[in-house]
Amino acid sequence: MINESYRPSRKEDHEVFPCTWYAVGWSKEVKREPIKKRLLGRDLVLFRDQNGALQALHAYCPHRGADLSLGRCEGGLLQCAYHAWSFDGQGRCVEIPAHPGRPIPAFADTRSYPVLERIGLIWVYPMARQLLEGEPPPLDLFPVLENRDFTLAPYDAVWQAHLTRVVESVLDVAHVPIVHNKTIGKNSSKDITIDFQAKENTIRIRNGKAYLEYAFPQHWLLKPVKTEGSQFINYVTFTPIEKEVTAIYGLAGRNFARSVPGMSRMFSAYSSKVLKEDQAIVESQHPRPIPDALRMEAHVQADGPQVRFRQRWYQFLTNEEPRIKISDAEA
Ligand code: FES
Ligand SMILES: [Fe+2]
Repeated sequence: MINESYRPSRKEDHEVFPCTWYAVGWSKEVKREPIKKRLLGRDLVLFRDQNGALQALHAYCPHRGADLSLGRCEGGLLQCAYHAWSFDGQGRCVEIPAHPGRPIPAFADTRSYPVLERIGLIWVYPMARQLLEGEPPPLDLFPVLENRDFTLAPYDAVWQAHLTRVVESVLDVAHVPIVHNKTIGKNSSKDITIDFQAKENTIRIRNGKAYLEYAFPQHWLLKPVKTEGSQFINYVTFTPIEKEVTAIYGLAGRNFARSVPGMSRMFSAYSSKVLKEDQAIVESQHPRPIPDALRMEAHVQADGPQVRFRQRWYQFLTNEEPRIKISDAEA
């Protein structure tokens, strides 16, 4: 049920985000060396163990706070560059070279985060394993993304904007013929009748020959209404890096011309170009997150999907849904 009545806002509303799986980078970025990524104000170090499985730890060593991404992978462990303490994927400290053979205290352990790889992306669940009761929920992806008939061309961007403003930009049909008048909106009419359905966590918009599907809070897919013959799809996922910094990871998919050289590069470049057309506008929006109540901005009929998104976001803020607070990053 959508909660229509909204309580007065709290300052912390601007720094809480749904606790769910977020993409933090591309699988191919993590090879032999550890790398650092940021999610919800937290620095993480990613590395591969001896089986090639990805592991994610808090980025700073529990000993003297050295950046673990300066370390190296040795026998499936991550070894700190400063005094060579070694950590496994669960964050357990398993070796302290200065004191060989002595028991390792529990406070030498560090936080580890659930991490997995799907559709070429690295996904992190932003609640440390040590604080989680049981397993994190499964990561739900649109099934078409794992359909092997499609080739997916990656692209990404980082915008200086709050997640809510970024999400709204992809639910906004009215801006397409204006902002994208040289690309995807070239032939669209400015006069639109919005046709959409919203359920609890999903919004589905019919836009000409395509559907836009949004799954709260971080997944969006464009797919053709017709599901036979040549098909083009476009998927985007949103990651809050900081309160007002959002990463966007995209996959432009096609089931045609799959082995034509240069084709994937072309799809990636075109999708990046379209995204770039929105960037300055979305980064300009004030207040930085969406306002605290519907009445605080003007809405017309064409804004229906965004209004539904706002209601869902307000519901998230109001209810006891799993959440992560940016300022708790070092807690
Ligand atoms: S700071 Fe990492 S081992 Fe000392
Ligand atoms: Fe756009």
